[in-house]
Parts: sequence; structure tokens; C-alpha cells
Amino acid sequence: MRVALRDFRSADAHAVHRWFNTPQVIDGLVEQRESFSEEEARRWVEHAEHPGGADLKWAVTVDDGEEAVGFTALYGIGRQAAPELGILIGDMELWGRGVGTQAQRLTLARAFDELSVHRVLELILVDNAAARTVVERLGFELEGVMRSHVKRGDRLLDVAVYGLLPEAFNR
Ligand SMILES: CC(C)(COP(=O)(O)OP(=O)(O)OC[C@H]1O[C@@H](n2cnc3c(N)ncnc32)[C@H](O)[C@@H]1OP(=O)(O)O)[C@@H](O)C(=O)NCCC(=O)NCCS
Repeated sequence: MRVALRDFRSADAHAVHRWFNTPQVIDGLVEQRESFSEEEARRWVEHAEHPGGADLKWAVTVDDGEEAVGFTALYGIGRQAAPELGILIGDMELWGRGVGTQAQRLTLARAFDELSVHRVLELILVDNAAARTVVERLGFELEGVMRSHVKRGDRLLDVAVYGLLPEAFNR
């Protein structure tokens, strides 16, 4: 599939609302919200459209379509500490078709080539095997595991720390 990144637009709020209300999609995230309303989705998209800060977000599209099928983000650009990459492909029928890999590859190219980032961090739940497969393919190294880092209900979840240096990026 042809994967591209574009800026967010207000019409994306419905898709964003749907993604964050799909339990199987948010299950893999390190941080989940208790609830995510239409109004919160509208504000989320508004911030993504006009970042004005250290966090940048892009909508992911496939095969030249208009519709956003997910997003990538770089949190903490322009700081001494390296930014963190976030990824969510919200339309589950696309999983396993290379979209997550390609969307992250495009985001990493922007980070290293356009934003002069010196390193990228990813934090992934240890049990999120698909997400780990993707980052390892892109050249990230497992640098450690934060034990019991996330408290979700009664469960304590381990989080894998992955880092990517520009020279290891598998373009
Ligand atoms: C993680 C995510 C981004 C992957 O996106 P995707 O479009 O399915 O990614 P790709 O198709 O490029 O690659 C997925 C790979 O994981 C593999 N995979 C899927 N489930 C797996 C599992 N249980 N164990 C091992 N590998 C698995 C797939 O086989 C595929 O590898 P392959 O191409 O060698 O077959 C997507 O599932 C997602 O957005 N999930 C919800 C949000 C999330 O978890 N984000 C990451 C938080 S850090």
C-alpha cells in the first residue's frame, strides 16, 4: 500500500474519535484515557493542526485517499532530550499490511532529515508484539524494560524502552 503523511484537518475529528473509542486499538497504548468524547476529539485535532509547541502530529493516509487511517507523532521536538515517537493505525482492517512500518519510516525520515533530531525514543508495552516487531525492523534497539511502569486497573504492565540513532535507521 502507498502510505503518506499529511497535516491534520478539522474533518479528521470523527476518525480520531472512532480510533480512541476502539478498545482493541487503544489496548496497545502505554497511556489510555478513561473516555474520549467528540469534543475532546475536536480539540485534539485542533492542537494537531496548530501545534505551536514541541509536539508534532501527522495523519496517515493510504493509496492517495483523503481519509486519515491513523497518526504518528513526535513528542518533545527541539529539546535537549530526544523526542518520543507515537503511532496508532486506527483502522484495524489495515493491520499487518505494512502501514505501521511505512508510517513510522516516513516519520523517522522527517525527524532525522528535516528536524535534525539526534535520537528517537519509543516506549512500548512489553506484550505489544506487533509494535515491537515494527520498531525492531526499523533499527531500534531494546535498551531496557521498565518493570510495572503502567498501572491499568489491577494490572501492572512492563514497558520496553527502545532507542534509534540515525546511523542505525533502516530506511
Ligand atoms: C502497532 C501498529 C502500529 C502496527 O501497525 P501495522 O500496520 O499492523 O504494522 P505492519 O503491518 O507494518 O507490521 C506489523 C508486524 O507485526 C507483526 N505482528 C502482528 N501481530 C504480531 C504478534 N502477535 N506477534 C509478533 N508479530 C506480530 C505482523 O506480522 C507484521 O510483521 P510482518 O510484516 O513481518 O508480517 C498497529 O497495530 C497499531 O496501531 N496498534 C494500536 C496502537 C498501538 O499499539 N500503537 C503502538 C503503541 S507504542
